[in-house]
Amino acid sequence: MHNKVAVIGSGFVGSTVAQRIVEKELADVVLVDIVEGVPQGKGLDMLQSGPVEGFSSYIKGTNDFSEIAGSSIVVVTAGLARKPGMTREDLVQTNAKIISGVAENIKQYAPEAMIIMVTNPLDVMTYTAFKISGFAANKVFGMAGVLDTARYRTFLALELGVCVNDIQAMVLGGHGDEMVPLVDYTTVSGIPVRNLLDEAKIQEIVLRTRKGGGEIVGLLKTGSAYYAPSAAAVQMVEAVLKDQKRLLPVAALLTGQYGIHDAYVGVPAVIGANGVERIIELPLNSDDKNQLVASSEIIKENIKLIFG
Ligand code: APR
Repeated sequence: MHNKVAVIGSGFVGSTVAQRIVEKELADVVLVDIVEGVPQGKGLDMLQSGPVEGFSSYIKGTNDFSEIAGSSIVVVTAGLARKPGMTREDLVQTNAKIISGVAENIKQYAPEAMIIMVTNPLDVMTYTAFKISGFAANKVFGMAGVLDTARYRTFLALELGVCVNDIQAMVLGGHGDEMVPLVDYTTVSGIPVRNLLDEAKIQEIVLRTRKGGGEIVGLLKTGSAYYAPSAAAVQMVEAVLKDQKRLLPVAALLTGQYGIHDAYVGVPAVIGANGVERIIELPLNSDDKNQLVASSEIIKENIKLIFG
């Protein structure tokens, strides 16, 4: 039997997630949106690219949530995207309503599924999906760290003039300007990055990483990033479907790890068939630790806006 993945939201991120999944033949896809015709049209268009691209995965677009039944993963991209000048937090109230409705539908029609959240503000929306679905915490997690780390690795590779595959790094914390790129754990083929770049340059790259999403919003003007976000989400989908046990930075529910309780925050975790199978608690220097806690405080304030 083929794997089935549901993608909620057929906008820029959702449709690109769907495209990557079928082109990699990871699963059949059902693409859901509230706008009539758009998911159907995009789904059919993508299906018709199969004979040319050479994939045989099936994709269908729909407005009917009941069609997500039988999905092993639901990737949620529904919601409003950031406009220039808007912070991710500005989106909290609007997207919380949308995500609550989506989570109710997932609970009703795909109670066995895993939820991978992409909608911003990411950490808060993941918490919302967790609360409203009532699913186990290992089955609800968010895509952010993989994207933020990809941006950080890209900037380092550009600066160093080396292949991006040789940069190992991890960005933790919330998916906002307060995220925490871990310079102590950044290496280039095992060489600590501080042996290759001076501190001022590293801090410049850290800052550019923190503002990486905003940089794209500023350029696009009418929307936010989707190529790298969709690639990051699909890496997580693949890790689950193939039970890869990938060690990735993801937004996971913390229950005391890093001194943080009851919030979704970006941390290193092992991702496999059971979703978040293990959270890795790294020793952090005091600056990084403080920044991670500060980042979680911002997330908690936003959670309060929704749940009181
Ligand atoms: N159910 C299903 N789809 C919905 C719902 C809903 N309740 N509400 C809105 N949508 C759909 C919209 O109709 C739209 O097609 O979600 C889609 C969002 O698409 P875009 O506006 O193109 O936004 P996109 O760039 O894809 O970003 C989606 O991902 O990265 C994050 O910050 C980004 O929160 C944003 C999300």
